[in-house]
Amino acid sequence: MKVDLSANKRSARQPAAPGRLSSSVARAQAAGSQSPRAFPVDTSAVLARFFEAYSEHGKPISVSFRGLVSWIRPGERATHYIHPYPAKLLPQIAHFFLAANAFVKADDAVLDPFGGSGTVALETVLSGRSAICADVNPLAQLIAQAKTTPVCDNRLHALYEAVSRRADRYKTFEEPDVVNLKLWYTPAAIRDLSRIRRAIDSESDSPEKTVLLTTFSAVARKVSRADPRFSVPVRTNKRHKANVKRPRISVKRAFEEQYLANAKRLRRLSEFGSEIGSAQCEIADAKSLGCIPDESVGLVITSPPYAGAQKYVRASSLSLGWLGLVASSRLRALEDDTIGREHFNRAAILKEEPIGIVDADELIARISAKNSTRATIVRTYLNEMKSVVAQLKRILRPGGHVVLVIGDNCVCGEVFPSSSFLREIFEASGFLTRLELTDAIHTRGLMTKRAATASMISKEHIFVFQK
Ligand SMILES: C[S@@+](CC[C@H](N)C(=O)[O-])C[C@H]1O[C@@H](n2cnc3c(N)ncnc32)[C@H](O)[C@@H]1O
Repeated sequence: MKVDLSANKRSARQPAAPGRLSSSVARAQAAGSQSPRAFPVDTSAVLARFFEAYSEHGKPISVSFRGLVSWIRPGERATHYIHPYPAKLLPQIAHFFLAANAFVKADDAVLDPFGGSGTVALETVLSGRSAICADVNPLAQLIAQAKTTPVCDNRLHALYEAVSRRADRYKTFEEPDVVNLKLWYTPAAIRDLSRIRRAIDSESDSPEKTVLLTTFSAVARKVSRADPRFSVPVRTNKRHKANVKRPRISVKRAFEEQYLANAKRLRRLSEFGSEIGSAQCEIADAKSLGCIPDESVGLVITSPPYAGAQKYVRASSLSLGWLGLVASSRLRALEDDTIGREHFNRAAILKEEPIGIVDADELIARISAKNSTRATIVRTYLNEMKSVVAQLKRILRPGGHVVLVIGDNCVCGEVFPSSSFLREIFEASGFLTRLELTDAIHTRGLMTKRAATASMISKEHIFVFQK
């Protein structure tokens, strides 16, 4: 379904017309909740039109978030690109909802329980609100922390200089615990990366050190032999070698370039001034968010993993090893906590529980007849998402909303409609479905090889559920 937004386009660019909607917008603006430069347009009227149309027809509305939020360019916006990360959320989606002052209160805390690299957290702090960003992967936590914390430019530069000088002087180094280290790196790269790592390690903890660790992690991936077209480390096959662009630069030069680019991004973050909010970035499992009190969150914006389509732990394995965040022997344990995972031991396969949604259980039975492991992957995925939804219900304030961004995929030749199944799970937990939008997926540049051929369906569903 399409909605005529011509009137809304007008109201998005001009001050909203008088009325209930506009007065709450005015109140929120008067409260000084948002930096006028980070959020120049109030999207409340556009969102209200979507709610109205959806309540009349109950059909998904097709939109383009890039068009709806045409005033932001993520590539140039603050720190969005400080570090690559698989399946990042389109920042415009988070921005659109956070810019609707009639939808989210100025003092609402905004949670992303699958925070990844902190896209939602960054847009939240830019809107002047407090962000809570949880992810089970410690690399995600590090990136999100660096992305959302303004630093002192002079201190950052002094630290970079000190680290670079010290790294040059080290004669010895300790090899990191990185899986297949020698497959991914030349001896010179191992030596130079190890020296930088040792020099950063010798500094005391500070937001500036977090930035250097994040910068180092991006470099460790960039200078590896892993094919840059894929999120998981894979060697480029011979046929594609000629087409793959590889930076032929030294580790030292790559670190300098990445530092300069990140320092510029952080200056852009600081330019938004004292009006930005703060972010609490946690290593936490979305199935058991014990660190977040009941009814303490006003809005959740999140894009959960797809069922079996992304390998987040493998994708970050080089960085996790170089940073000493997860020992190579513990990577499998981290994967066991990750929703959408692809590996199971036999015991897990034996104690499978039905989902309790007729269509889902029937589809899983058909998948099981073809491939029992793939059936386990999707069944476990939906059962674990049920636990996440129960947590969201607990921590949202009454009337609070969840914005859920999810796509469907194909499993064993069958369309697996995660979007419909998740909607049923939310509704069975007592949430009201207030809106469903769809948007084309524009880039899946960081998908894995397998997922790229696993028929990802090229549209995302954006639901708004209300408690
Ligand atoms: C689609 S990505 C989110 C990307 C993020 N929106 C961004 O822009 O970077 C899904 C995230 O869910 C995380 N994840 C998977 N299982 C989790 C769990 N049990 N608890 C918390 N996070 C989990 C993954 O580590 C991954 O970072």
